[in-house]
Order: sequence, then C-alpha cells, then structure tokens
Amino acid sequence: MSRILLENIVKVFNNKTVAVDNFNLEIPDGEFFVLVGPSGCGKSTIMRVIAGLEEPTSGNVYIGDRLVNDVEAKDRDVAMVFQNYALYPHMTAFDNMAFGLKLRKVPKPEIKTRVQEAARILNIERLLPRKPKELSGGERQRVAVGRAIVRHPSVFLFDEPLSNIDAKLRVQMRAELSQIHQRLKTTTFYVTHDQTEAMTLGERIGVMKDGRLHQIAQAMTLYNKPVNKFVAGFIGSPPINFLDGKIISDKSFKFINDSLNIDLPAMWNERLKGYINQDVILGIRPEDILYEKERQNLAGIRAKIEVIEPMGSETIAYFKIKEQLITARFHSQFTGKIGEVLDFYIDTEKIHFFDKTSEIRI
Ligand SMILES: Nc1ncnc2c1ncn2[C@@H]1O[C@H](COP(=O)(O)OP(=O)(O)OP(=O)(O)O)[C@@H](O)[C@H]1O
Ligand SMILES: [Mg+2]
Repeated sequence: MSRILLENIVKVFNNKTVAVDNFNLEIPDGEFFVLVGPSGCGKSTIMRVIAGLEEPTSGNVYIGDRLVNDVEAKDRDVAMVFQNYALYPHMTAFDNMAFGLKLRKVPKPEIKTRVQEAARILNIERLLPRKPKELSGGERQRVAVGRAIVRHPSVFLFDEPLSNIDAKLRVQMRAELSQIHQRLKTTTFYVTHDQTEAMTLGERIGVMKDGRLHQIAQAMTLYNKPVNKFVAGFIGSPPINFLDGKIISDKSFKFINDSLNIDLPAMWNERLKGYINQDVILGIRPEDILYEKERQNLAGIRAKIEVIEPMGSETIAYFKIKEQLITARFHSQFTGKIGEVLDFYIDTEKIHFFDKTSEIRI
C-alpha cells in the first residue's frame, strides 16, 4: 500500500518565510492527486518534503504505513519528474532511463526489460539510442517520465512537468499521463499552477494559497461549489466575474449596487436571510450569462459590448458595467458588435454569493 499521509506539515525558511502552514492531506493508494495554486504558494516545497529533499519544520510524512521523516530521499521509493527534465546530455535516452537502476545495482537484463517496457508505454522505443540534444522538448519530457517509470516506485511526484513544452503538445502529454496512470495505477502527486491541467488530470485536486490548502475536491465540485472567493476565481477559464453589492429584502430578496438591481429567486431566501442590508460579493461564471431571455430567473442588464473574441466554437464578449468589465461566454451564433448596447441576462439560479469580509461562499 502506498498512500501518502501528511500530518500538520509546517515549513518555515530562515525563521521567517512560512512556505507551508499546517498542511494536512491523505492521498489514498493509487490516486492521481493534483496540487494547484499560484506561484510561490508552497507547492514545490510540499513536494520536496514528501520526496525527502526538504525537512519539514514540524509535522509527519508517511508513505504507505511507514513514517519517513527520518528516511533519506533515496530510500523513500519515490520517483520525481521536474519541470527542467535534467537529462544527462552525454548519455543516450536509454542510458538516461537506465541510470537510476544502475546506481541501485539492478541486474543488466532486468534494466533492459524495464527500459524497453517504459519506452513502449511512452512510445519512444525508436528514440532510445539518441542523446537529449537530438530530441524535441516533448520527447525529452517523455524520457524524463520514462526515467521515473522504470523505477517502479510506489509514488510518482511531478513538479510542473509540462510547463516547458508548447501548448498543443502539453494537451497531448496530459492525455498520455492520464493513460499511463490508468495502466500503472501508481499513487501520483502532481503539482501545477495551471488550473486546466489540474482539472483535467486530477482525480482529486487541492487548491493552495499562501502555504495553506483551501479546498480538496473533484474538479466539478471545485467548479460548482468553491468554498471561497479565491477558489472560485482560480478555477475556471475565462474566470468567474465578481460584483460588489449588498442584499436587501423588498418582498423578495434583491442584490443591489450603484448600477444593478437583481431580483433573486426564492431558493436564495434561506441562505441569504442573515445577510439583509449587508455587503456581499456576487460571482457569476461567463457561461451563466445569456443574451436571450430563454427561461425564467434571468436578470436583464443593459450594457455596452467592449470587446468580442470569436473563438470558433464559442464567442467571448466583454461588457462594461460602470468601470467593470464583465466576461460572457456565448454560442458562436451570437451576432453582437463592439459598441452595441444590449440586454444580457444573468442566471440568478447559478450565481454564487460570498461574504464580503471572510470571502467564504454563502
Ligand atoms: N530554499 C528556500 N529558502 C528560502 N525561501 C524559500 C526556499 N524555497 C522556497 N522558498 C519560499 O517559499 C515559498 C514557497 O515556494 P515554493 O517554491 O514552494 O512555491 P511554488 O508554489 O512551487 O511556486 P512556483 O509555482 O513558482 O513554482 C516562496 O515564498 C519561496 O520564496
Ligand atoms: Mg514550484
């Protein structure tokens, strides 16, 4: 069994930088877990703590049932893949993949079998005799992943392994990593700052900010039920729109500010009853804004189109309310033009409200 268990991990650098703040996480055996968060939030630090490359200031790390705080990195049975794949330039792809096994004195025929097996999984068999400079970025990345696979480790640790390759290849490699996980079922801890990568790869995703985990959930739960404003804003592309205002009760509940007066359906009464006359933040995702009043509970807002981005499969439109740009994601049949003033509609069943002070979702 190779679950990962992190208990109350704290990492403080130089007695002042709190990189990781009381981090608790259990990754069950075989799960593909993704940790996502903005630059500097502590993702690599937590991974290095799991790998044994960094000692936590306090807290416990378990791999399987073993407390590994005092176990050296090389004895933790983890394999890492980094952003800069760090292949040895003078060695062939085969030798790069074989290197770790040679160090561990694995017999030669066994090494050959394992490298060939990994090369087959990654579809790089024909590249094995080549040196890194004779490989493209994506091929080098595959060799780096291969180097981890041949180890047959109980845990894979990936630190932004795809950020050095171009966008198209990244999508392909993402799919390949998913397939490899389907086959090998090795417990995987994957770090990225890219929310799309997190959403597409993670069986569960942890969202981190300032050294703390804000939410752990499956992709759709993060999207539909973010615990707070930070998670709501971080997950989703184009991002959710936020509007400041307050709740008033006038027959039904309403959300109002200088330019808006939105009737809220009765489903909101229970959740908002403690917020009457209080400041809140309204969140609305771009796809929950429509340009036709095609059903009930749509609140019309008149605004001017500032920018149109035809994407082919859809059209992104930016409206201006007062000084704020609002992003809407429309069907590509939308025919609005820049400068045109028209009514668009906010789906009041799909909005989110956040407490203005705590930023927790109401
Ligand atoms: N060796 C170190 N000494 C001092 N401070 C460090 C050290 N390593 C990391 N930090 C600090 O700890 C915090 C977390 O860094 P970390 O590298 O874990 O972030 P990250 O989430 O991986 O960011 P990125 O997405 O940019 O890779 C940052 O403020 C960073 O400056
Ligand atoms: Mg990092």
